[in-house]
Amino acid sequence: MKAPATCLYGLVAAAISTAQVTGDPDGINDFKSDGPFALQVKGQALNSSIAGYVYALPTFGTQWLLQYEPGNCPRADNSSFQFYFNYTGEMKSQETDIGFFVTDYTVEETNEFGLKGKAVSLQFDLNTNIGLPIMGIATAVLTGFNAENKTFLTHYMDDSTAAPGKRPPYKDYRYYNWAVCWQAFSNVYAPILSWVTTGRPHNPTCELVDLVKVNL
Ligand SMILES: *[C@@H]1O[C@H](CO)[C@@H](O)[C@H](O)[C@H]1NC(C)=O
Ligand SMILES: *[C@@H]1O[C@H](CO)[C@@H](O)[C@H](O)[C@H]1NC(C)=O
Ligand SMILES: *[C@@H]1O[C@H](CO)[C@@H](O)[C@H](O)[C@H]1NC(C)=O
Ligand SMILES: *[C@@H]1O[C@H](CO)[C@@H](O)[C@H](O)[C@H]1NC(C)=O
Repeated sequence: MKAPATCLYGLVAAAISTAQVTGDPDGINDFKSDGPFALQVKGQALNSSIAGYVYALPTFGTQWLLQYEPGNCPRADNSSFQFYFNYTGEMKSQETDIGFFVTDYTVEETNEFGLKGKAVSLQFDLNTNIGLPIMGIATAVLTGFNAENKTFLTHYMDDSTAAPGKRPPYKDYRYYNWAVCWQAFSNVYAPILSWVTTGRPHNPTCELVDLVKVNL
């Protein structure tokens, strides 16, 4: 997905387009990394009013959220709207690399895990089917891009195929359950990028969206 030609890009010349770092002898932090790109959200429903981008929103705590902001153009002049895709090159979904989203690490200090940037993970609560993408914890959720640059999450099993005594098969499942929902977390109550685990969203403010990579 390309941004409209009318959008003005601020800092693109100063940004790295592809970083491939191999300075880690143990290979633990040895991620390939593509970016920066913006993450566009588009409502899936016909005539949906949701059209914009997400940006990294700090909270009073150490965990950050992805807030939705309406708009036609990616904000290339603001690093909160810039993301990278870190991957090993070895994990694949149907020949496509899978990895995880990271905030703009070119502006961040190395953290306690020896990494730069905050990886996007998913947090769940016991009373809802709405997950919360959060950043700033030591895990990440595996993601990839399809041919149209829509992002998906992967899983190896579908528990709706479980039968007594018969384990569900291992397969390469791709899910596109992103949503924008009003969510409360820490000091924030705002339209936040969310994830619907399965079924109808329990939170009535949720609208299903596509999350699309737009290269800057
Ligand atoms: C997807 O993004 C890539 C850049 O990462 C771009 O070259 C390609 O044209 C995009 N594909 C579509 C269908 O927009
Ligand atoms: C979408 O908008 C068009 C034009 O305004 C209208 O005719 C149509 O009924 C709308 N569809 C839905 C599902 O709201
Ligand atoms: C980046 O955008 C966010 C959301 O609009 C805003 O809160 C923040 O102040 C901006 N940062 C800079 C450096 O302009
Ligand atoms: C992402 O990859 C870059 C380039 O290898 C690296 O500098 C950074 O620490 C990585 N960040 C995370 C959170 O994996």
